[in-house]
Amino acid sequence: MDKILIQGGCRLQGEVQISGAKNAALPLLCATLLAPGTHELRNLPTLRDIDTAVQLLHIMGAHTTATAPGTVRINADEIACAEAPYDLVRTMRASVLVLGPLLARLGYARVSLPGGCAIGARPVDQHLSGLEAMGAKINLEHGYIEARAERLQGARIYLDIPTVGGTENLLMAATLAQGRTIIENAAREPEIIDLARALQNMGAQIEGAGSDAITIHGVEKLRPMEHAVMPDRIEAGTFMVAAAITRGDVLVKGAEAEHLEAVISKLRQSGAEVHCVPEGIRVRYDGPLEPVRIKTSPHPGFPTDMQAQFMALLTQAQGTSIISENVFENRFMHVSELQRLGARIRVEGRQATIDGKVDLLGAPVMATDLRASASLVLAALAAENTTEISRIYHLDRGYQGLEKKLSQLGADIRRVR
Ligand code: UD1
Repeated sequence: MDKILIQGGCRLQGEVQISGAKNAALPLLCATLLAPGTHELRNLPTLRDIDTAVQLLHIMGAHTTATAPGTVRINADEIACAEAPYDLVRTMRASVLVLGPLLARLGYARVSLPGGCAIGARPVDQHLSGLEAMGAKINLEHGYIEARAERLQGARIYLDIPTVGGTENLLMAATLAQGRTIIENAAREPEIIDLARALQNMGAQIEGAGSDAITIHGVEKLRPMEHAVMPDRIEAGTFMVAAAITRGDVLVKGAEAEHLEAVISKLRQSGAEVHCVPEGIRVRYDGPLEPVRIKTSPHPGFPTDMQAQFMALLTQAQGTSIISENVFENRFMHVSELQRLGARIRVEGRQATIDGKVDLLGAPVMATDLRASASLVLAALAAENTTEISRIYHLDRGYQGLEKKLSQLGADIRRVR
């Protein structure tokens, strides 16, 4: 299995180009199931999760052709198999996003239940109750969700929590339902807006995406989309923290400031200089870091997907910082690995207290999930000596060319087998 070796202490400097957003690309790939014809998606990141989603489309009968780097044509004329098997859903929870499109187009879907995962229970009850409100009959049997509906009916759906995947699944399903659907307490993440734009490009009638109430007027059929995936705000945020933690100066090209307001605000509070420029966001830092208090919450709040990276940064702040994780239970697995590098962090329930500043010292550590892995990379960049990170397949799920991008900025990082 591959490992990453990082010799810390290098100041990062220069420019880095952000790739297309994984979390936008996955629902967009699933949305191609809604309409026959040939779709074209551009700016797709090269990642393992994207390969998994493409594999899922193949199982269902779609044909894909890569026409240029990051561009894929997907022909969805014949969707013969409406099933997402356990083996794929197990490796990528977002596979559950085929449920809404399959049910809307074919009237039937069988999707493995995602089950638990490393960062908490993560149920899909809101996806299912929303589809039921639209008239679907749902059975849970042998670990599979089986859903049927002759034609989905528009409905008023109130989500108990503003779930991102739930909002996406219901939004896609509602595009082909009969009548009007209103999703209340909808997620407001930028990826929802990107998906809604692509669906509108397919002929869907959607209002209010990006707000907490989305209205969809169902149409009889949709046409194929042509769409460029939005930039990855979490990859951008990770490089912004990399600049700060190495006392560097990095222009994160393609980063959209309006997607990253909470992250920018916390970086500024910690003492880093953040400049929003036409090409992206530039982060510079060379003074003492201040401790900050962070509470994760759904967008536009501070993203849970940036929590682990900020924890690495706050080990370098002069004083005590507090992070409250309010989106996922059990999302502090990176703490014990950061402690192996010398971090002083205490966890009580959903709150972590970070005492800084500590001099981190390289050690062997293990990645536990995608963003936890990113936090270990960041801590290693600031640590003395060499850090060896194993189980880096998590990183390959979500960061395109991370070692290459970091080494172009001056990091001493390499992958070994
Ligand atoms: C998406 C992102 C993930 C990010 C998360 C929160 C993708 C592919 N993944 O995940 O990177 O960390 O948003 O920003 O876009 N919940 C329920 N019932 C449901 C659905 C969710 O209780 O039916 C709970 C979950 O357990 C979790 C919280 O709601 O505690 C948020 O989950 P959700 O917004 O659905 O996250 P994902 O869409 O899975």
